[in-house]
Amino acid sequence: MRTVIQNGLVINSSDELHADVLIEDDKVVALAVTGSELASSWTAGADKVIDATGKYVLPGGVDAHTHMEMPFGGTVAADTFETGTRAAAWGGTTTIVDFAIQQKGSSLREGLDAWQAKAEGQCVIDYAFHMIVSDVNDQSLKEMDTLVGEGVTSFKLFMAYPGVLYSDDGQILRAMQRAGDNGGLIMMHAENGIAIDVLAAQALERGQTDPKYHGVVRRELLESEATHRAIQLARVAGSPLYIVHLSASQALAEVTTARDKGLNVFAETCPQYLYLSTEDLAKPGFEGSKYVCSTPLRPMEHQAELWKGLRTNDLSVVSTDHCPFCFNDQKVLGIGDFTKIPNGLPGVENRMDLLHQGVVDGHISRRRWVEIACATPARMFGLYGRKGVLQPGADADVVIYDPNAEQVLSAETHHMAVDYSCYEGKRITGKVETVLSRGRVLIEGEAYHGRKGDGAYVPRETCQYLT
Ligand code: URP
Ligand code: ZN
Ligand code: ZN
Ligand code: ZN
Repeated sequence: MRTVIQNGLVINSSDELHADVLIEDDKVVALAVTGSELASSWTAGADKVIDATGKYVLPGGVDAHTHMEMPFGGTVAADTFETGTRAAAWGGTTTIVDFAIQQKGSSLREGLDAWQAKAEGQCVIDYAFHMIVSDVNDQSLKEMDTLVGEGVTSFKLFMAYPGVLYSDDGQILRAMQRAGDNGGLIMMHAENGIAIDVLAAQALERGQTDPKYHGVVRRELLESEATHRAIQLARVAGSPLYIVHLSASQALAEVTTARDKGLNVFAETCPQYLYLSTEDLAKPGFEGSKYVCSTPLRPMEHQAELWKGLRTNDLSVVSTDHCPFCFNDQKVLGIGDFTKIPNGLPGVENRMDLLHQGVVDGHISRRRWVEIACATPARMFGLYGRKGVLQPGADADVVIYDPNAEQVLSAETHHMAVDYSCYEGKRITGKVETVLSRGRVLIEGEAYHGRKGDGAYVPRETCQYLT
């Protein structure tokens, strides 16, 4: 099967070029300047020629932070691996890295097997796993080594959620030391959960039960304190560190300080922190629950700082932390007690578009868009070369993006299995037109040709982004 994508502007993180792309079966085999003799020679033997005139041709998006079917707060995230990866494809994402969870008292292996079983045969796009370590002990530390060897090369730890996913500083230090030795990357949920739980209980005692208090008790200081502590522990352990879902500018300042010292400290933010704020959390009639996630949304003034962090590379990746719960039957579990609202937002379908809007609005360049959404997440999590770049030898995961199309985001039209959109009514300039996953066309205009089970599990290398 030979496919040629003609006449588009190919955008990689490193450069832009008016080039045609030759795909054979599941791989990109060559790029050549549009109109050149070489490029012109490709159409004769091609099975499919796609005209991308006036369009961008990008490597497929890599969303390095999703939670399909995640059990949380007495319920389960609404997108399955099938519905969630289908929605991702509609939004121009062709690889997800989801989080397998070690249950307390169980092994990492049991957790990973359980997540592999959930995903197997269900995914529309390629997928990989990080491992959430919720029980750091001698056995799980040993298992970390084995998992790195198998392609699960990153481990999320929680400074939040005491009694559930929480690790104390000693456990964190031990896991970091292990990662320092075995090449794994520690991903940190950096919020001081012990202090947050005290403030949450005090708020409930005062009768402060509405969703907005979720944001009030999860103080910015408790994110920056935990971020600072995680960085110092990583320095002691001699391991690299990746801060997930960073939302507070004070936490970003901690990351910047560390990076200015040349440390291997990285951070991601998410579209919700770039576009939504505590004003959304304060919406009346329990609407605010739609915006409950952790770390929480922050006041509007943090957004400019986060965009700046994306420009300076103090924030290196934008992931979604896609963890959707329906308003009607899941978010409502927290009526009368904000601590019982399942934490998480839908977003896997919207990331490429919301970041393109950042290009349109002048926050980032086109190449930086591709860098934070495709190339760096691939490098950070050991997928680069195959994913995150259009070059010979890469998987033919390709997005043809119309930069001039107009669309309105809405739950009426999105493909995520959740009954609301955080961005209801938001206008976006730019839209995914065609999506290929390893050479197969999944999306073609309004047509969907994806098939569950076609997405493959991708074992990962260790981090390719260390200095
Ligand atoms: O609110 C969130 N972020 N839910 C998903 C779990 C996590 O901490 O990433
Ligand atoms: Zn988290
Ligand atoms: Zn998450
Ligand atoms: Zn539902």
